[in-house]
Amino acid sequence: MATSSVTVRVPAKVNLQLSVGPGRPDGYHELVTVFQAVGLFDEVVARSRPEIGISLTVTGEGEGLLPLDDGNLAYRAAALLAEHQGIEPAVELHINKAIPIAGGMAGGSADAAATLLACDALWRLATPREELMALAADLGSDVPFALHGGTAIGTGRGENLTPVLSRGSFHWVFALANAGLSTPAVYAECDRLRGGRAVPEPYVSDMLMQAVRAGDPMLLGKSVHNDLQAAALSLRPSLAQVLEVGDDFGALGGLVSGSGPTCAFVTRDEEHALDIAVALTASGVCRSVRRATGPVAGARIVG
Ligand code: C5P
Repeated sequence: MATSSVTVRVPAKVNLQLSVGPGRPDGYHELVTVFQAVGLFDEVVARSRPEIGISLTVTGEGEGLLPLDDGNLAYRAAALLAEHQGIEPAVELHINKAIPIAGGMAGGSADAAATLLACDALWRLATPREELMALAADLGSDVPFALHGGTAIGTGRGENLTPVLSRGSFHWVFALANAGLSTPAVYAECDRLRGGRAVPEPYVSDMLMQAVRAGDPMLLGKSVHNDLQAAALSLRPSLAQVLEVGDDFGALGGLVSGSGPTCAFVTRDEEHALDIAVALTASGVCRSVRRATGPVAGARIVG
């Protein structure tokens, strides 16, 4: 009997380091980043439907706010896979979201990655992994990493991945904001703040790599860095208070996640993460708080 439903679970990401180089002629920025997949998951369910077409529903984070047509990256992922394989798409997609939208945690990219995997299984295409990764890169710079998971260095516009060996688990706390930030707007603000000055080539810090390899949260806290942080703070000055509260309550390190506005804090262990989560919640500086460990695996079929 044909498979009638496939469920894929996909994690959010945080950039342990985001080193943004000069702008490129294609409008992107050359970057070097260290991605880590963290245990905050969206779930995509793909069901067969008798008639041709793609339908999409969303519950959870961003419910009622996200486009349900080809303005949604998950919808585009299903259409792109079908086109690549020369078939007509026929699928009902449902996304249950826990990753904040426009939050700098690659939620839209995660949904696109999960949709590629779910539709590939539903339509029994057995698309080779390298082809799925290439389709993922066409959809967006962060989509390949959502398939990959773990900890990885991203180069180019973020789509070229090299896995990084990492020891143990890091305990993260994430402070979610009331409203999202647009990624292109944050990159544009970064350019504006740089004011045409020469920008050094992007790089990965040795200290950060050592922290990841050793599973050392203290060293990680000291070495996390995001070149987009100043731009996110410039567009959303209230984020400075969020970072300050994390710092005041003893987070080992804090930074804006990706293009923001989610703020991410490195903590010592589970108990310390709980303390910082409680302090952030009580402070009232953010909409809500999540705890998660990383690294975790990338998009996986779970049912
Ligand atoms: O690749 P993606 O569609 O997710 O990128 C969204 C936007 O973020 C791009 O249109 C671009 O403005 C900006 N971006 C960038 N440099 C990168 C990645 C993204 O300028 N390396």
